[in-house]
Amino acid sequence: MEIIVKDNVEGMSKSAARVVARTLNSKPDAVLGLATGSTPLGLYKELVRMHEQEGLDFSQVTTFNLDEYVGLTQKHTQSYHYFMYENLFKHVNIPNQNIYIPSGSTDNYEAFCKWYEQRIVECGGIDLQILGIGSDGHIAFNEPSSSLGSRTRIKTLAKQTIDDNARFFDSPEEVPVYAITMGVGTILEAHKIILLANGKNKADAVAAAIEGPMTSMITASALQLHRDTMFIVDRDAASSLDMLDYYEWIQDKMPNAP
Ligand code: GLP
Repeated sequence: MEIIVKDNVEGMSKSAARVVARTLNSKPDAVLGLATGSTPLGLYKELVRMHEQEGLDFSQVTTFNLDEYVGLTQKHTQSYHYFMYENLFKHVNIPNQNIYIPSGSTDNYEAFCKWYEQRIVECGGIDLQILGIGSDGHIAFNEPSSSLGSRTRIKTLAKQTIDDNARFFDSPEEVPVYAITMGVGTILEAHKIILLANGKNKADAVAAAIEGPMTSMITASALQLHRDTMFIVDRDAASSLDMLDYYEWIQDKMPNAP
């Protein structure tokens, strides 16, 4: 794993945007795996800026989102569909037919999940997957005890995740209890992965994912098995890492650190 530590959240977002831009420059028809949450907001903002000011082109790009709440319509302001259109898709030139987001309102989830997995494969797999991390160490909505080989499916959200995400809803009771999510196994098939984290409340999850034992109780720790994963974190999110000095020493010597 590569670990990049930036002074602040802006640095984290710009560094991640450089990784995305490099991917698109070398493969204009890349398949991107996208995440929601507050963490990637700065990244999306920077990608929109690069599109508008530097001509970063998304016209051949395909995207697959990680997850979606079950029971929220696409127009619900807290749905991940809504989030993605508001924060990225409305502002860049990804063809609409190339955008895939799990459905939170299908009448056949099993068939949908199978189809979603198939579409990823038919599109050649995900070239670059962007991830955030939950405060309990989850990736996408793969809550503690999710199989590290899991595929796209419905998951029941953990109490901690519901509490964390309640800030976006009027009350905790309104947070959906179920979500449709790519599995850990699905995510591990991405060719390259970047995980972003900022803030003190992510520090323990980041340390457990990078330095702890690999365990289904911290699903981000499964990334230890992946051949090309980069953690891009701010100083607060890096603050519980035992080997921080070592990672920074390596980062200084990295020829192409983003
Ligand atoms: C949700 C999403 C995850 C995201 C996490 C952290 O659980 N399913 O993909 O990483 O929230 O969100 P935030 O970035 O808002 O802390």
